[in-house]
Amino acid sequence: MNIPMVDLKGQYESLRHEIDDAILQSLAETRYILGPNVQAFDREAADYLGARHAISCASGTDALHLGLRAAGISPGDEIITSAFTFIATGEAISYIGAVPVFVDIQPDSLNIDPEKIRAAITAKTRAILPVHLFGQPADMNEIQAIADEFGLLVLEDCAQSFGSRYQGKMTGTIGAVGAFSFFPSKNLGCYGDGGMITTNDDEIADQIRLLRNHGSSQQYHHDVIGYNSRLDELQAVILRIKLKHIDDYNQRRLEVARFYNRLLANSRFRTPGIADDRDHIFHQYTVLCDGRDAVREHVIGRGVACAVYYPVPLHQQKAFADNAQAILPVTESTASRCLSLPIFPEMSGQQIETVCEAVLSA
Ligand SMILES: Cc1ncc(COP(=O)(O)O)c(C=O)c1O
Repeated sequence: MNIPMVDLKGQYESLRHEIDDAILQSLAETRYILGPNVQAFDREAADYLGARHAISCASGTDALHLGLRAAGISPGDEIITSAFTFIATGEAISYIGAVPVFVDIQPDSLNIDPEKIRAAITAKTRAILPVHLFGQPADMNEIQAIADEFGLLVLEDCAQSFGSRYQGKMTGTIGAVGAFSFFPSKNLGCYGDGGMITTNDDEIADQIRLLRNHGSSQQYHHDVIGYNSRLDELQAVILRIKLKHIDDYNQRRLEVARFYNRLLANSRFRTPGIADDRDHIFHQYTVLCDGRDAVREHVIGRGVACAVYYPVPLHQQKAFADNAQAILPVTESTASRCLSLPIFPEMSGQQIETVCEAVLSA
């Protein structure tokens, strides 16, 4: 493949000396579990995001799970969320025995449609879980207003939106809890699995610190049944270095997206919009088109990677067969028309042009 979806090697090469030195130093220090780098990363990430607490953990999926549990979500509670997302958003709800209620998305932003949330509220609804899909924040004012009206919690799935702001506020600091992923291909990615929960609530934060470490704040004393869900010390080393570059990375992604938008304007491909009141950090650059599968094959045949995020919405997944009766027209049409193109901060203008030539010749 001449042009990959992401270029992890290129990014590693640009940071190689700093990362290698810091890893060797951490290896020599031998404080491998909840060591100084995890503690420092938690502080630095909280400062960067403007959150009172940032608590790293083993993955984005765990961040959602621990966040929901610490916020008091219980078995049988209904959580309203988007069906157009990665499976983990729904899985985390199910881990608790709570019930995901999938609603439709907006045709433009591909984020959860606040209009559809209201109609899905029942006596069992406890929370709304918007996903800031592809790096663009959902309509948080409208969502929070509905939550306030019905006494619901808002939890944010920020797996794709590290450093993306909504009306000046970082995603992950608007609802009760934010859940982040540091999967290697994320806009802030480590070299394995990693995740983080943000909250401004001291009690929720205390609970999450317990839950990520076997329910323990003092060695061999366990207050609740928790999990082994700590961020690895070596991953914290890498994340601390990459965090210093995240604004540049996000800015560069936006520039790549703007260039794509210019080159694909007035074509049969619907390009993503960029709203005035919020960032879009373009974790993914996703166009919509008819005949998507043929376009995909053609583009791959020209040596350019592209991918479908997501071909099967959650209400149509076998794992969520209980939700099979849901009919979500915008989600279903988007799943059949979406195509994500390569995007990474190191992408050159020449590479962007090559991708567009492949796409436009389909
Ligand atoms: C929207 C969304 N939520 C949750 C997750 C889960 O994160 P992780 O893979 O770190 O468990 C992902 C990761 O791909 C994601 O894209």
